[in-house]
Amino acid sequence: MEITLTAIKADVGSIGGHLAPSRELVARVEEVIAEGGKDLLCDHFIGHTGDDIAILMSHEHGAGSEAVHRLAWDAFKAGTKVAKAQGLYGAGQDLLKDAFSGNVRGLGPAVAEFSFEERESEPFLLLTADKTEPGAYNLPLYLAFADPMYNSGLILSPGVGAGYTFVIMDVEHTQGDRRIELSTPEDAYDLVALLRDNGRFVVESIRSRADGEQAVACSTTRLRNIAGKYVGKDDPILIVRTQKNFPATGEAIAPFAIGHLVAGFMRGSHTGPLMPVKAGTGVSFFDGPPIVSCLAFSMHEGRLSDPADAFDHPYWDWVRDKVSQKAHDIREQGFSGAAMLPYSDLEYGGITDRMKKLEGRFRVDR
Ligand code: F6R
Ligand code: MG
Ligand code: MG
Repeated sequence: MEITLTAIKADVGSIGGHLAPSRELVARVEEVIAEGGKDLLCDHFIGHTGDDIAILMSHEHGAGSEAVHRLAWDAFKAGTKVAKAQGLYGAGQDLLKDAFSGNVRGLGPAVAEFSFEERESEPFLLLTADKTEPGAYNLPLYLAFADPMYNSGLILSPGVGAGYTFVIMDVEHTQGDRRIELSTPEDAYDLVALLRDNGRFVVESIRSRADGEQAVACSTTRLRNIAGKYVGKDDPILIVRTQKNFPATGEAIAPFAIGHLVAGFMRGSHTGPLMPVKAGTGVSFFDGPPIVSCLAFSMHEGRLSDPADAFDHPYWDWVRDKVSQKAHDIREQGFSGAAMLPYSDLEYGGITDRMKKLEGRFRVDR
């Protein structure tokens, strides 16, 4: 049975700044999806990470289905009404265009979706991040799919060891989608040369070379490219199918123990470690740190199991302590050097104005 998973994520308002959506807002989104999805969807799940709400839908209408995308758009619109009525901050923040035009891509919300022939048991992960950008998944995906230090299947399982083909998107190219395909292990160094640049090159999808099956779909939205100015970080959503010819669930999540430094954090202009958190966690310290949650599902004929929270375990409590220390360490140096993003990535435009103002005050002595 061919099933499509569509995961759409947006910030349509939150409590006390950019921390977390209200219960009523999440409930309203759920209500619209449940009602409108009766004859459309096989199943759905609604969750939130930081100030973003994630809608996961399983269905048989293929990727880019207008009806499915419209349902999510309507749910976020209905949620925005609740956010406005409650005086939540940034109501409708990620709905950058007024009218729905067939697909939510390019309208603000982040989308990860793909179709596949469902396996007998279909285990997959839904990862949702806040206060960071799509390239935050580059390193974990590379390590989980291409590095035997993290994925023991690359040497132990012939299916996994056949390697993977990565599709990489150049997110700075705004006139059309600029992509490249690279396969591991032979293209590993070329792949790393791109993936080191999280702000420009982003893993869009990964497929198995053993059977051609797609394992990964990741959102590549850059809100700044849509709005032309800063309206919030891109807060990416990722689906990873696991087991058999794909990494085991434990291999797929292992790289998140690094708490690697990513772009985002306060005002989308800083560097901070990506903290793996339990589902439903808000943000706090310095509007961060950047967070990622991971819910594991099994699916049969499009019906979703209850989610298991992959980061709700004593091991990850220890990781969170370690990552908190890392967040504290980099924050100790405030605005200096590596703690903030390079000039070109600073948000809000304030820096450009300030530099323009200072331009005339420089003197050159010869
Ligand atoms: C980061 C983020 C927050 C805001 C900050 C200021 O993605 O959303 O860190 O940038 O709270 O928000 P405004 O400009 O809305 O007052
Ligand atoms: Mg927000
Ligand atoms: Mg957010």
